[in-house]
Amino acid sequence: MERKEIENAAYTMFGKDITLSPPRSILNHYHFHIKKTERSDAIYTIHKIKGETEMLLNTDEAYQLFMVVERTKKTKGDIAEVGVYKGGTAKLICEAKGDRPLHLFDTFEGIPRVDEIDAPRFHNGEFKSSFEKVKSYLQEYKNVYIPVSDCFLSE
Ligand SMILES: C[S@@+](CC[C@H](N)C(=O)[O-])C[C@H]1O[C@@H](n2cnc3c(N)ncnc32)[C@H](O)[C@@H]1O
Repeated sequence: MERKEIENAAYTMFGKDITLSPPRSILNHYHFHIKKTERSDAIYTIHKIKGETEMLLNTDEAYQLFMVVERTKKTKGDIAEVGVYKGGTAKLICEAKGDRPLHLFDTFEGIPRVDEIDAPRFHNGEFKSSFEKVKSYLQEYKNVYIPVSDCFLSE
């Protein structure tokens, strides 16, 4: 497969120009193993969620998350997300998870305590959201559990 073809495939997949640099094998892998309709469904879902709520992942990261969940559909076990915020990535997981149980953990009060290493970038209480809104946003999906607890706030 020619470099240009791979770059075009990457454009279709991620919706933006990607100049090919190693690892080329990754793009080859995507091109040969993921059907075009599947790619566009995933990209459509990501953009739909981005239009509904504030999801903090960029499209490439969201695509990776969607495909990881989708590709492990046959794997037994529950899924957990720690750091839910407004439920954007949780909804993406829901779209790909099938009936697998999903457990969502968050303070819903934002970051409880910013350590020194994160202090220049983040602050206490950042990403405060609403348990009720997240619950309602995800109500159509089966087997989604959001434990309410203040245990995350302690040391
Ligand atoms: C960057 S946001 C998550 C973004 C989200 N996954 C998305 O893009 O849709 C990080 C989240 O982690 C939560 N969080 C941070 N520290 C936490 C802790 N110690 N326990 C529980 N939740 C925590 C914050 O409340 C915030 O909602």
